[in-house]
Amino acid sequence: MVSVIIPAGGSGERFSKTSSKLFGDCQGHPVIYRTVAAFFTHPKVDEIIVVHPPHNTALFASTLAVFNAKVRYAMGGDTRAQSVKNGVDHVTTSHSHLLIHDAARPNVSHNLINAVMAPPDAHPMVIPAVPVTDTIKQVKNNAIQRTVDRSVLMAVQTPQRIHKATLINAYDDTPSIESFTDEASLMESQGIPGIIVPGDPCNIKVTHPQDLTILNALMTMHH
Ligand code: CTP
Ligand code: MG
Repeated sequence: MVSVIIPAGGSGERFSKTSSKLFGDCQGHPVIYRTVAAFFTHPKVDEIIVVHPPHNTALFASTLAVFNAKVRYAMGGDTRAQSVKNGVDHVTTSHSHLLIHDAARPNVSHNLINAVMAPPDAHPMVIPAVPVTDTIKQVKNNAIQRTVDRSVLMAVQTPQRIHKATLINAYDDTPSIESFTDEASLMESQGIPGIIVPGDPCNIKVTHPQDLTILNALMTMHH
């Protein structure tokens, strides 16, 4: 049985200055509802820690009330890394590993959760990723510097499976965690080895408004 931490403490600046992407409509429910539901219905997940912005406690609690049996709350921090760290403080299960999943990825499948949980426990981090399909250029002030070799690049998703004690050590050893955009980067900075499992191209992160349009179209096709 495992705990999952869902960082939901961001302000979604790239989505909208006025409305929260996590409360955008995703097949008749808010995005955050869909994300939590995916883990709530997974038989191996028994604790879901939702890390929400400090001013939104009541809205999160009422939106996610149906999931109360598995959900706990923690307060978000100024960065994603700090939000996850706050979530880790609230973990009560004794499982050696944690799952960490972006609130903004509501279309996470049980197959993907299973794939991330499958590798032997000896791996301190397991990360889903998909090959990069666009040609990637390095640029400076709109001037092309070079084309990067795409074959060595992958785009990283969540859920990420991380060894809890190793992550807590990484927090203790890292003076400033703010710049890390995922837990894998923090672990890498400590020289911790990680492995990749195939991600899911449909496990889209809602970043810009059109992502939510694409997600709703995808989910309509698959349900
Ligand atoms: N997140 C968080 N605490 C923060 C910042 C981000 O818990 N201080 C969460 C977001 O809520 C989101 C996930 O981390 O579920 C991935 O971050 P991102 O997609 O960048 O979301 P935002 O930071 O909210 O969006 P933006 O960067 O456009 O402002
Ligand atoms: Mg962000």
